[in-house]
Amino acid sequence: MAQKIVAGNWKMNLELEGAFELVDKILDEDKPEDVRVVLFPPAPFMYPLAMLNDGSFDLGAQNFYVKNSGAFTGEISLAQIKSVGGSIGLIGHSERRAYFAENNNFLKEKVDHALANKLEFIFCCGEPLMIRESGKELEFVKMQLLESLFHLTADQIRGGIIAYEPVWAIGTGKTATTEQAEHMHAAIRLWLTEKYSKDVADSVSLLYGGSCNPGNAKELFACQNVDGGLIGGASLNAVDFNAIIQSY
Ligand code: PGA
Repeated sequence: MAQKIVAGNWKMNLELEGAFELVDKILDEDKPEDVRVVLFPPAPFMYPLAMLNDGSFDLGAQNFYVKNSGAFTGEISLAQIKSVGGSIGLIGHSERRAYFAENNNFLKEKVDHALANKLEFIFCCGEPLMIRESGKELEFVKMQLLESLFHLTADQIRGGIIAYEPVWAIGTGKTATTEQAEHMHAAIRLWLTEKYSKDVADSVSLLYGGSCNPGNAKELFACQNVDGGLIGGASLNAVDFNAIIQSY
């Protein structure tokens, strides 16, 4: 069975005081035992938040570079992330693809680098609006997975995490319908089954991301192939984020 996950991607928001307040409120709330909570704060907040953590959540890095150390001004290594309490990384978020030119080849390198360094990751995929309107979203997302992720062996991908985030739904208030989300998630599960096995496919958590909020989380999480959410805007509000966690 795939693990249930609710992850908060804070992006480039908040300052330290606000981050402390938010985490305090997340820590205060009882969480369903079978839901894993992951937070992706801005990198400077990882260490102070790790110090506060009582084991209620995992800390992740929104970004990392594919080298171990050296002259790469502005970049962060996986060893550095681990040394401040990070245990998981985001790979392939549409904002990194769009604003930082991270293409499928580079994302494959990130996947391999995370594996080599034994860092868990969430691999994000999803189609832009133009592709959705042309009806080619399945082909588009399949290509993202084929070019960056599906070179992994069954053992490497077993228990992994994929987030489907349609670009047109990110930060727009326009959520995918449960039918649209389930259709894509079922397709991803099928591709995993075809490439690996049903057993492997069932072990991979498939998260939905894109304007997920307390009003729609319950019905999205109730979909057969949706194992949780990657939450942006609503993860910055403790009441909303806690309510999404409770939506399971
Ligand atoms: P959103 O962002 O929830 O604000 O749409 C999701 C994401 O970018 O991961």
